[in-house]
Amino acid sequence: MRNSRNILALALLATLLLAGCRQDMQDQPRFKPLAKSDFYSDLRSARAPVEGTVARGQLHEDTYLYTGKVGNSPGDYMPFAVTEDVLARGRERFNIYCAPCHSRLGDGNGMIVQRGFRRPPSYHTERLRKAPLGYFFDVMTNGFGAMPEYASQIPPRDRWNIVAYIRALQLSQDATSAEVPARQKVPSPPPAFRGDPGSGATLPELQPGNQTGNPEEPK
Ligand code: HEC
Repeated sequence: MRNSRNILALALLATLLLAGCRQDMQDQPRFKPLAKSDFYSDLRSARAPVEGTVARGQLHEDTYLYTGKVGNSPGDYMPFAVTEDVLARGRERFNIYCAPCHSRLGDGNGMIVQRGFRRPPSYHTERLRKAPLGYFFDVMTNGFGAMPEYASQIPPRDRWNIVAYIRALQLSQDATSAEVPARQKVPSPPPAFRGDPGSGATLPELQPGNQTGNPEEPK
């Protein structure tokens, strides 16, 4: 009985002594975040990055791409060329992020508005038709009045894709017949089929699924 107690005490002592000898990485000399240090003259242990340091992925050299602004005012050009892919992507993103309020047509009569949200202005007004491209980018980036900002959800390139698509939407609602390329012209329907846009009148020349005038998803 006595003997086993001694052994136990010895084992305990050994454990304590050995534990005291540990020098693992967790024990190495270091500063806790933002701790004071007498080593530096400003007494801060955390050193400021060298002036001009840019974190990986944060080099926004092309300021126009990220702000849509030239100086303090919105610019009126795209930071990259508009291709069919750009417009297709813009349409897809627009229909996801903007159409719930602005509607697929951009007339401000989206489903959320029909359910009571504040009605945005139509894109097809003189003022917004003339608004520079960078203005739309800025509204998406920083929000506008009751409209939230979308910078955290839509990356800059996609915001520009949407800008290009909005301009195309505006054109689509404000073009003369002379501006439509010949191969895309729909022959005039017989008078019996003419109706108000959106009245549900079916034009025989239009394919099924494209009768509402709403842009379809790219296939
Ligand atoms: C939740 C609803 C909602 C969504 C989604 C939304 N908007 Fe808006 N938008 C509004 C409202 C409301 C206004 C009017 C705000 C006001 O006048 O206070 C507005 C205004 C605007 C304007 C006009 C600003 C002006 O000068 O009058 C533009 C351009 C615009 N939105 C673009 C977009 C784009 C692009 C998207 C998609 C990325 C988008 N909005 C998504 C609700 C929305």
